[in-house]
Amino acid sequence: MHRVIISGIGAEIPEPVITNEELVESFNSWVDMENARRQTTGEAPLQKSDADFIVHASGVRSRHVIEREGILDPARMTPRIPARPDDALSLEAEFGIASARKALDHAGLEPSQVDLIICSASHHQRPYPAIAIEMQQALGTVGAGFDMGLGCSSAAAALHMAVNLVRSGAHKRVLVTTPEIITGHLNFRDRQTHFIFGDASVSMVVEGLAQGDKRPGRFEVLDTRLWTQMSNNIRTNLGYHTRTAQDDPYMIDLEGNLIKQVGNKVFKEVTVAGHKFIVEFLAEHGLTPEAVRRFWLHQANARMNAMILKLAFGHDVGHDRAPMVLEKLGNTAGAGAIVALSENHADMTPGDFGLICAFGAGYSIGGALLRML
Ligand SMILES: CC(C)(COP(=O)(O)OP(=O)(O)OC[C@H]1O[C@@H](n2cnc3c(N)ncnc32)[C@H](O)[C@@H]1OP(=O)(O)O)[C@@H](O)C(=O)NCCC(=O)NCCS
Repeated sequence: MHRVIISGIGAEIPEPVITNEELVESFNSWVDMENARRQTTGEAPLQKSDADFIVHASGVRSRHVIEREGILDPARMTPRIPARPDDALSLEAEFGIASARKALDHAGLEPSQVDLIICSASHHQRPYPAIAIEMQQALGTVGAGFDMGLGCSSAAAALHMAVNLVRSGAHKRVLVTTPEIITGHLNFRDRQTHFIFGDASVSMVVEGLAQGDKRPGRFEVLDTRLWTQMSNNIRTNLGYHTRTAQDDPYMIDLEGNLIKQVGNKVFKEVTVAGHKFIVEFLAEHGLTPEAVRRFWLHQANARMNAMILKLAFGHDVGHDRAPMVLEKLGNTAGAGAIVALSENHADMTPGDFGLICAFGAGYSIGGALLRML
């Protein structure tokens, strides 16, 4: 059994930004148009969105998106991302490669030294050929690649696999990449969810720690853990069977098939499960929350993270202990906790413990206990 480290971390944040005010203005213009139509049919009118509500309820002030064009147009409200020919690099692979190159640079490795890519995201652009295999070809890594997903726990779940594959000796170096282009699948006409998400890509290099190797400033992965429990409270039904239920199978009906969530149920249920997961996982290693220098939690809701930590610690915990990147990025699904890690570890000292804990659809929770070398 080998000791395992995260030798490289990379995050790619797309430049375009959308503020709450811009998003709400576009949403409310669409509601005006839609309500004018509804008045003629007798359907119940829709309610408007509100920027102050968004900040208060979620903590999100803005989000970065891979493509602004189209999202704010009330007649479209979907990013306009042109299709690429089959022989061109796909957008998801391109986004994954951007963070992968940063992670490889951080690790001081050439792509040819990586023998597995796991591309793990809450939404993949297509099922096959795997995005990871496209990345393998474009980067020049060797061995194999495959895609997987576990909602917002996607990066944590892939880390769980990568760590155990390296620990067992099955692979030498695994590149875990989580390119989240979640705006492509978001229903910008749904008042409950239109403000929640943003796009980001993260990558980590996982490899063994050779005997006598010190690797200061890198994290040893002491343990990883996954937990899942069925819930329909965050769900998407878009898939190959969508068309089989339709009268015209060659027209995709998106109504009800994009992301939907019962936010307040998710909030309550995942807060309880998340706090329990953290306390039990740490206890298995003889640790209390107080012993952990930093928590990189899933970035879905600022109040939710504060509550999880308050339950775990018994008192309020500040952002130095549990940094938030949600305010500027929104919820970047599987990428969020790793962006928080990428931006908030340089001040840690050897021996410091850190905990990655991501949670979301499934329900799912994924954790990794780290110690700085
Ligand atoms: C989504 C979320 C921000 C909503 O916040 P909330 O406080 O739970 O809000 P609720 O859904 O209970 O709605 C509260 C009120 O705000 C209203 N509201 C909802 N969306 C609104 C919007 N965009 N603008 C204005 N008001 C809104 C509701 O209609 C409701 O009004 P009412 O009290 O008059 O009925 C929050 O539930 C959340 O973040 N949940 C966790 C999500 C998560 O972790 N997901 C997992 C990872 S993807």
